[in-house]
This record gives sequence, C-alpha cells and structure tokens, in this order.
Amino acid sequence: MKQQPLSHWGIETSRLVLGCMGLGGEWNLNPYTQADVKKAEEAIEAAISAGITMFDHADIYRRGKAEAVFGEVLKSNPGLRDCMTIQSKCGIRFAEGAVPNHFDFSKEHILASVDGTLQRLGIETLDILLLHRPDPLMEPDEVAEAIQTLRASGKVRRFGVSNMNVSQIRFLQQASPEPFIVNQLEISLSKLDWLDQTVHVNQKAGTAVHFGDGLLEYCQTERIQLQAWGPLSKGLFTGNASPDAPGHVLATAGLVQQMAKDKETTPEAIVLGWMMRHPALIQPVIGTANAARIRACADAARQAELMTREEWYTLYVSARGKALP
Ligand SMILES: NC(=O)c1ccc[n+]([C@@H]2O[C@H](COP(=O)([O-])OP(=O)(O)OC[C@H]3O[C@@H](n4cnc5c(N)ncnc54)[C@H](OP(=O)(O)O)[C@@H]3O)[C@@H](O)[C@H]2O)c1
Repeated sequence: MKQQPLSHWGIETSRLVLGCMGLGGEWNLNPYTQADVKKAEEAIEAAISAGITMFDHADIYRRGKAEAVFGEVLKSNPGLRDCMTIQSKCGIRFAEGAVPNHFDFSKEHILASVDGTLQRLGIETLDILLLHRPDPLMEPDEVAEAIQTLRASGKVRRFGVSNMNVSQIRFLQQASPEPFIVNQLEISLSKLDWLDQTVHVNQKAGTAVHFGDGLLEYCQTERIQLQAWGPLSKGLFTGNASPDAPGHVLATAGLVQQMAKDKETTPEAIVLGWMMRHPALIQPVIGTANAARIRACADAARQAELMTREEWYTLYVSARGKALP
C-alpha cells in the first residue's frame, strides 16, 4: 500500500480532509442555530461515510461558530472523536475597535486561542495546531515557548504552519525542537503557481509566479505534509463557472466533465485526483459543507491512482491557458 499522509509522524488520517470553514452559519456575532448544528452533523456524517477522517478548523472560522457547532455534534455522538484527526489554526485576529484585522504569534495569544478552540470543540487535545498566516512580528523563541507549553500540557499533539515559505519555516523551526509537520497552502487547478514554480526556472515568466521558491521540494524533503486549501476552486471546473469565464477555464471545465463521464466518476474526483496524482502526496482540504458534494469527492484517491501522465498534463496545460515552456 502507498504511504499515507502524516503516518510517519504517528498521525492516522485520510487522504482527503474536510475543511470546516463553511460550518456554523454566518460570519457575524449572531449565535448559531440548530439548523447550523444539523448541517454540520450531515457534513460530518457524509465525510465519515466517504472515508474522510481528518477535519480542518481555525479559531476564526465563522467567528468561532464552526468549532462550536462541530463541538455540539461531537457531544451528541460519543465515540466520534476517537475516529477523527482534528486540526485547527491560530494567529489571525479580527478587527477590534480602531485596530484592524491582524496577525498575532505572541505566546499569550497562541495559548488563549488554543484554550478557546478546545473549549468550543469540547475536546481535551487537538491533534495538530497550525500557525495560520505569517506574522511579521513573530519571534521564534516566543513561538517555541508557546509550542512547548502546549505540548507539555497535552493540549496539542503536533504542530504545523500555513501559508509559509521555506525561510519562514526554517526561521521558526530553528528555535523549536517540535517539528512542523504540515504546511497548508492555496493549491488547485485554478491556482497553478505551485507547479509553474517548477517549470519556469530560469524563465522570465517565472518572475510572475507567486509560490515560495523551492517550497514544494523543501516540504517533501523535510516530510512536511502539504495540504491544499481551495482545492475545488469554488467549483470553477465542476459546474460553477460563469458562462463569461475565460475560454481556457470553460475548456478545462469541459475536459473535466468529459473525463468524469469516461471514467464513470464525478468532476470533483477528477479535479482532486489530478492534484493528488502529484508525488508530493498532497492532502486536499475540501471546503464544501454540502453532503452530496462531500460524497462526490470520495473517489478522488482512486482517480489519482488511475490518472495517466498524459491526462495529468492535458488538464494542467489546459488550465494554464498556455503551452509549457
Ligand atoms: N490556511 C488558509 O489560509 C485557508 C484559507 C482558506 C480556506 N482554508 C481551508 O480550506 C478549506 C477549503 O477552502 P475553500 O472553501 O476556500 O475552497 P474549495 O474547497 O475550493 O471551495 C469550497 C466552496 O466552493 C463551493 N463549491 C464547490 N463546488 C461547487 C459547485 N460545483 N457549485 C457551487 N459551489 C461550489 C462550496 O459550496 P458548498 O458548501 O455549497 O458546496 C464552498 O463554498 C476551508 O474549509 C478551510 O478549512 C484554509
């Protein structure tokens, strides 16, 4: 059997992750409703039945309500927690008064954020905590202290980062004995910088690519699990493109539809399988809260196994909208 994501770090998990940003109602301070809890329950059930056992949160999602409704579902389904890997994130703060949205990797904020997450989820230990977005004011020793405290208290098992480049990971890692085991980045068939970085070395076109230089290779070498946020491109290739989208987008959506038909699967499984075919063993974090769409993703790992090199490049080049160098 092929290696499973995160298994070498002692974390049992699935190839797909359910992103929980869509759970918990609106992005405001209004309380969540029973309908929001029901929706979360249906999404979790659909995920489990699709073989998805890893769940991605952040303290800020729906202003804490995503974790809170998830916690309600865990409370009314004893035993569910034991078959899950739960990940959350900290380090982004909403505006308060005259202070705008900002980032905060202070020890005080990291510890307070984790306490809030554990309380909302109603659990004692978080499997993985990610530092959500690089804070220009971050001080590696202070972050390391927070990590040590969380590890020693048993509140967090493992740590990772999100939206970070090689230098930032190294900068934080040199101060901390705890390895960063995940880097979550925007990776999809519509945001192709992660691949264009590879093919545009020594090319002028490469200067317009926005993905950390060597990041993909660095994470693989260090066995840092790459996770993809935005992997469904909000449905751009799976039925949600506007009719006046660029020609290459519509053509790619057509290709995805045709491949799905030929392979007797869903467009979602093709789009996700395409990214999972990459040797980095990327874990897509699917952001749908719709039970039917979650189930439509279930065949992705199998499609990754079946996808030929020719099919993979056909989708890549079509979505790029221009030939490879
Ligand atoms: N680390 C970070 O900085 C970061 C940033 C953003 C997100 N994330 C994580 O990544 C997860 C996924 O990100 P994402 O939500 O941006 O990306 P996504 O998985 O690409 O998109 C999911 C969204 O697209 C909609 N959608 C998908 N297919 C559709 C279709 N065919 N027709 C209509 N709507 C469709 C879904 O609506 P339905 O719910 O109705 O299906 C949902 O709102 C999040 O849940 C979160 O856990 C992390």
